[in-house]
Amino acid sequence: MLKITGKTDVYGIFGFPVKHSLSPLMQTAAFHTLGIDAVYVPFEVSPEDLKDAVAGLRAMNIKGINVTVPLKEKIVPFLDRVDEAAAFLGAVNTVKSENGILIGYNTDGDGFVDSLEEEGVDINGKTVLLIGAGGSGKAVAFALLKRGAGKVVIANRTVEKAKSLAEKLESYGKVEAVSLGDIENFLEEVDLIVNTTSLGMKESDPPLFDYALIPSSAVVVDIIYKPFKTKLLLAAEEKGAKIINGLGMLVHQGARAFRIWTGYEPPVDVMKKVLMEQL
Ligand code: ATR
Repeated sequence: MLKITGKTDVYGIFGFPVKHSLSPLMQTAAFHTLGIDAVYVPFEVSPEDLKDAVAGLRAMNIKGINVTVPLKEKIVPFLDRVDEAAAFLGAVNTVKSENGILIGYNTDGDGFVDSLEEEGVDINGKTVLLIGAGGSGKAVAFALLKRGAGKVVIANRTVEKAKSLAEKLESYGKVEAVSLGDIENFLEEVDLIVNTTSLGMKESDPPLFDYALIPSSAVVVDIIYKPFKTKLLLAAEEKGAKIINGLGMLVHQGARAFRIWTGYEPPVDVMKKVLMEQL
């Protein structure tokens, strides 16, 4: 039985909606596994109420929260400090309260790269084709460059967005912006192909490019985990390429949040297992 006492620490997640979030399951399993006296609960916070909700974190001595859509950007001005990734991204997915001082972090991009490392993929000096220039694309591109990728080619439907992201990233490494139509000209030179768009979540979604052209030598990653294997991953698998879905990113962004909050090494295998059972 879950034992909650007067000493139990409270953590949670802010989202709107938050019902679909898998973080409560994953973080609760992690606290339980390490015997940490803490609970992790979902908070449905509308964007209009966010400021009050953040004040509530301080007022109620809540130790930490995750932040999800559509609040990741909106929460930034209400925090006391943010880390380098969160400052660059203008978005926070993890908040830690240190005696009421609220510090924002963004573990999405590093969680993504951790998930590649877990699969034995070395990004050092590699050329990456990154599809998407939204919030997720930005986080992934930043972490890839910070952690040693040789070059990131950003392809986006709205090419202007890819260009503006590429400009922001210029000081961190080699970046290029292209349109979705250009992807086929780059495929032969890429080591890693990453989809960060939502295209592929629905059965009816069209392909992002001609998947028959995926080189077998590439590692193909989709940050989607529902479906577990998108059409992109199925096609890549058929070509003999190594494939990785978004479950690892979900686990590792949570693992990093857990480490920030508790200082303990997160039980990554347990966190992954509870998610697998749920999906
Ligand atoms: P997230 O935070 O999940 O990244 P987002 O910031 O809304 O969400 O970004 C969505 C990304 O998916 C963008 O790169 C978007 O392309 P545009 O910048 O051109 O809008 C991409 N995307 C969404 N629907 C798409 C579609 N039908 N075809 C191609 N790209 C799509």
